[in-house]
This record gives sequence, structure tokens and C-alpha cells, in this order.
Amino acid sequence: MKTGIDALSFYTPRYYLDLVTLAEARGVDSDKYCVGLGQQHMAVCPPDEDVITMAATAALPLLRNGVGDAIDTIFFATETGTDQSKAAGIYVHSLLDLPSRCRVVELKQACYSSTAALQIACALLRQKPDSKILVLASDIARYGLGTRGEPTQGCGAIAMLVTTEPRLLEIEAESGYYTADVMDFWRPNYKDEAVVDGHFSTKVYLSSLMETWRGYEKASGLSFGDVTRFCYHLPFTRMATKAHHLLARHTGNDQLPDETLDAQIADSLHYNRVTGNSYAASLYEGLTSLLDKSSEDLTGKRIGLFSYGSGCVAEFFSGLVQTGYTDHIRRGAHEKLLSDRVKLSCDEYEAFYSFRLPQDGSDLNVPQNLTGPFRLGRVSEHKRIYQKVG
Ligand code: HMG
Repeated sequence: MKTGIDALSFYTPRYYLDLVTLAEARGVDSDKYCVGLGQQHMAVCPPDEDVITMAATAALPLLRNGVGDAIDTIFFATETGTDQSKAAGIYVHSLLDLPSRCRVVELKQACYSSTAALQIACALLRQKPDSKILVLASDIARYGLGTRGEPTQGCGAIAMLVTTEPRLLEIEAESGYYTADVMDFWRPNYKDEAVVDGHFSTKVYLSSLMETWRGYEKASGLSFGDVTRFCYHLPFTRMATKAHHLLARHTGNDQLPDETLDAQIADSLHYNRVTGNSYAASLYEGLTSLLDKSSEDLTGKRIGLFSYGSGCVAEFFSGLVQTGYTDHIRRGAHEKLLSDRVKLSCDEYEAFYSFRLPQDGSDLNVPQNLTGPFRLGRVSEHKRIYQKVG
């Protein structure tokens, strides 16, 4: 029985900061951000958007024509949780008017949790092949103003419909996993921004790739040459370039020209370059970018996926692109979303960044900005109150 991704939708907020603007404000050579990190823009979340509004907006187009009525499980992967107890997905379930005969759970392990959600969804489908599972991944990457992590911020959400008749990508059964107790990036409960040992985190990312590849190779009997395109977890696009060249060397493929290796990942990088890191959504934003942007027909091709979550847990796995997939991608909608965004000045970005919701239960009407069809309208008595827009 096949299991895999039947439909994919990406959402990122309506505002962005140009990294040349950020570099000027921080007194840094803009090539460091644009060439050294490989980033162009950074998506910025206004105060009335959060992981819930982003995820609901990403999911909305996948639920038309009665699909919503067939969803019996929602997994919500995030490390930007809004509550220590209540799952963020319950708000999404309500905003999208999904059936009450449905279970909703939130998963956390840094950027890796979306892959855990996808794999659990595939396993559940083998028990109950008729069901449809909605996997949501939504995050806001946040470091301190003026820190080295600042240009690697970003935000966005992915919605994936996971079924036994996947029209986009069949997920193959074999994986390589890896876990190690490392402090490369974390966010204690009392902090709004991540704490990060940046250079160490890039080293752990690369060593985790080698460990998971070894496991994947052993489990699947496949080699580097059996994989046509690669999608990596994308904290910034240059990380994928480094990772892919290292993997080629490690697997004895260093004779391949740089252009060939770069072409194997290039299409997966477009969206991340203009949104930045969206943590749990990031790998699947890369997959969306690959399917949307590839000029080559990928039908029947194997895509390798490397998922990394700091702390750390990683997995290398693969999927096969399905016949007719181009009829089911949402390329036009994603491109329009990105091209319609509003550019912020550095002061406007800092004002959004510095906005805080009340922490004492007092009431606040959240200032209205451009959003998708859902917004956080108000907080009252420690409750978040969402609104449908338009
Ligand atoms: P930094 O230390 O300020 O940057 O921060 P740098 O000095 O390492 O420079 C970056 C690159 O730009 C270097 O390239 C420089 O040479 C180059 P490299 O040597 O690495 O190839 N450079 C220039 N290039 C052209 N012209 C110039 C110029 N100047 C320098 N003028 C760092 C970089 C990534 C450490 C920082 O941004 C950071 O801490 N980011 C957050 C952590 C992160 O993204 N880690 C990635 C791996 S961990 C991960 O992916 C998990 C994560 O998503 C979280 C989760 O799992 O939940 C983060």
C-alpha cells in the first residue's frame, strides 16, 4: 500500500524585510547575508498573525470539495507553541470548521517534528487506509535583534494532506534516524528568542546528515546515484549547498561537477531564499519549491529528504514523485503569495518584532495589519480570540 503526500500548501505572512536593508542597519556587508548565507528576504509576522493563523491559511485550500469532512486526524508540528497545554491545532480545527469526529495533537522536537508527524501519519494510514490526515507545520524563527542569528529568521506554515492515494509524493518505508543530546539551539520556556551556538549547530547538522545517510543507505540498499533531487532542512540556503557537497564527497561522488550538485538542490531553495527559516515547515517548504519550480518532469524520480531538528533528532528518507503531480501543485498561488508581499523598513520590522501580547490576562484588541483569511483579533482573560477576515 502506498502512503504519502497527496496535496501541499504553503503560507507565509504578507510582510518581508530585504536583507540588504537589514545589513545596512546592522553595519554589515550585505554580501554576508546574500552570498554567505544565501538569503534575499526574510518573512516577518505581524502581531495579528501567529502559528495558528498561518497554519489555518495554509490548510484552507486543501479542504475544499468535501476533503475537510474526511479528515480524522490533525498533527500540528511547531516549536512556537502558543500554550503549554492546549494544542494549537484545536484552534485551526475550529477556524476551518472540521468535523468533531477528529483527533488533534501537537508535536515538538525543534524543526524535526513535522517529519515525525508525516511518518506517524503514514503508519496510521496503514491501519486505516480510508482516512485522510492533515499534517500542519508552522513556526516563527526568532533570534535577538542585532544577533548573528537575526538574518536567519523567517516564518511560514505548510499543510500536507497525507493519504493512501498520494498524488504528489509516495513516502518510501526506509529511513535513517539519529539522536544526540547536544545544546546547539534551544528555547527555554521563559524566553521568546532561541538561544543558539550557531557555528556548533551547523557542525551538528552536517554530522547528523552523515549519520542518517549511513542508516538510510543500509536500510534501503540505495546509493547517492539513485536519488535525483535532494531537499534539506533549510535554516538558510547555503546550509543546503554545504550539506549536499559534503554528502557527495562522503559517498565518493566528488568527481561530480559543482554545477551538477548545485542543480540537484537548486529548485528546492527558491522559496526559503525569500522567506527565511520556518523551522518545522522549512524542509517541506523546500519540497514545495522543488515541485513548483522544477522545469524538468520529476515523474517517477526519487527525492531524498533530510530533516534536522536541533537538540538533536535527524532523519534521512525518500519519496517517489507521482504521475500527474503537476496537475496538483499550487505553483500559481504560492508565487502570487510571495510576489504580493509588502516590503518593510527596518523600523517597521523592529516594531513588529517588539510587539508583545499582554501576559497578565488584561484585554487587548490586536492592531490590524494585512493578514490572510484569519487573524488574531483579541486577547482577553488569557484567551486568544481569532477572527475570520473578509
Ligand atoms: P555568523 O557567525 O555571523 O556568520 O553567523 P559567519 O561569519 O559564519 O558567516 C556566514 C558565511 O558568510 C560564511 O560562509 C562567511 O565566510 C560568509 P562559510 O565560511 O560558512 O562558507 N561571509 C561572506 N560572504 C561573502 N561576502 C562577505 C562575507 N562575510 C562573511 N562579505 C550563523 C552565521 C549561521 C552561525 C548564524 O546566522 C546563526 O547562528 N544562525 C542560527 C543558527 C542556524 O541557523 N544554524 C543552522 C544549523 S542548525 C538548524 O538548522 C536547526 C534550526 O533550524 C533550529 C531547529 O531545529 O529548530 C536553526
